[in-house]
Amino acid sequence: MTGQVRGVQLARLLGQWHALPGRRRSPDYAALAGAVRGLLADGRLPLGVRLPAERELAEALRISRTTVTAAYRQLRETGHLASRRGAGSWTMLPGNHRVASTGLWTPLDDREMIDLGVAALAAPPQLLAAARAAAEDLPRYLGGAGYHPTGIIELREAVADGYTARGLPTSADQIMVTSGTQHALDLVLRLALAPGGSVLVESPTYPNALAALAGRRARITTHGLAADAGWESDLLLGSLRQTRPKLAYLIPEFQNPTGHLMPASLRERVVAAAHAVGTDLVIDESFVDLPLDGTELPPPTATFDRHSRVVSIGGMSKPYWGGLRIGWVRASAPQVQRLAAVRVGVDMASPVLDQLVAVHLLADAPAIVADRRTQLAAQRDALLGALAHRLPDWRITVPRGGVTLWAELDGPVSSALARAAEDVGVRLAPGPRFGLDGTLERFLRLPFTLPAADLVEAVGRIAAVRYDLDRTGRQRWREPAVIA
Ligand SMILES: Cc1ncc(COP(=O)(O)O)c(C=O)c1O
Repeated sequence: MTGQVRGVQLARLLGQWHALPGRRRSPDYAALAGAVRGLLADGRLPLGVRLPAERELAEALRISRTTVTAAYRQLRETGHLASRRGAGSWTMLPGNHRVASTGLWTPLDDREMIDLGVAALAAPPQLLAAARAAAEDLPRYLGGAGYHPTGIIELREAVADGYTARGLPTSADQIMVTSGTQHALDLVLRLALAPGGSVLVESPTYPNALAALAGRRARITTHGLAADAGWESDLLLGSLRQTRPKLAYLIPEFQNPTGHLMPASLRERVVAAAHAVGTDLVIDESFVDLPLDGTELPPPTATFDRHSRVVSIGGMSKPYWGGLRIGWVRASAPQVQRLAAVRVGVDMASPVLDQLVAVHLLADAPAIVADRRTQLAAQRDALLGALAHRLPDWRITVPRGGVTLWAELDGPVSSALARAAEDVGVRLAPGPRFGLDGTLERFLRLPFTLPAADLVEAVGRIAAVRYDLDRTGRQRWREPAVIA
């Protein structure tokens, strides 16, 4: 069991359950059971969570207890609930349905394939000049051994200045340079999470973070994000207080995959709640440089931290280039020293030349990042336009930043659609890849990192196979590819 949902919380999640489509023909208990199944399928209600007692839910919903009893009975019969006398009822999925959230890595060998599995831009034109300038700088380092476990000082200073400019005073000794944000997460987990430790993550979340957590055999609980509204403050804070995880991994800026931006008030409350229950927060700021439409950013989550509870991670991959493999951790200076000690058992240090390239790119940050935002906004709008035209039944919340949108499909077909799309040359990352339990089949992440013409072409192909899907039946699944 991973926690408990109270009657009022479930009532809030259920919302207008009695007015769901097809409702007129079904009795109350069946509608209630259907609504609970819907929440499970969308990952809004975690698996293994204890539902409220029948009387409590009946009171919260202002319906009769017999209706709740009948709904729970139906959920047991359909395999969505397990009950033990005196101990309560837990959510589950029929047949222990599980889909691996982390696929095997296979190289993208097909150049004709439009790859919507990877949410990252091609390198900016400024990269070559930065690489040449870095090569010119290299002699300054050649006299030493070249091992800098926390990173070269120039880059640590540049990254620290970036935080200070965002209103979070930071010194270079609070920064450790890593080989990408993913590496930063792995190192933080090695330091902060004993094998088997408990972690709270968003659902949906970034699949490779789940892979890193699997590497620590973490016991994971989820907070389900609403597709249209993001975090539900009371539920998130309630989960922290109830499960008291060792660590919580959150993506407050343009969350991958949903694109939501966490408001300042919730950041402050999450930090306070985490401190109260002894939870460390790992805040992934991968997309912080990419607000679109002039969206104002709330203060960094670590601004609300008074007790070194927040470790921020970020990197160059989203605004600049994934191929650079440069990321970082921002933490207290003693934590950085401890991370460096962990790192010597892993990879010693990041390449000096690549760090110098990063220094030159950061020196040109305002121009490069402004171009990226313009490019991303135009590509996002092309994608939205194509979706509205070709797949008008899909529901989409327009992301105000980042590089992805989270489409709510017209049925639980995400994996089937990904299989069918592969045959027409489009690689997709289906909804279940972003969760733990094989749920999220009604969702699909679509990045807008490819040129507009590719996005429009891809949507056309997806629309064609979507309408064929029901007739053609199951497709053969090729190996899952890398998702980033
Ligand atoms: C939320 C999030 N964290 C981490 C990463 C990995 O970033 P990096 O390439 O810097 O390792 C990504 C890349 O997609 C991401 O979306």
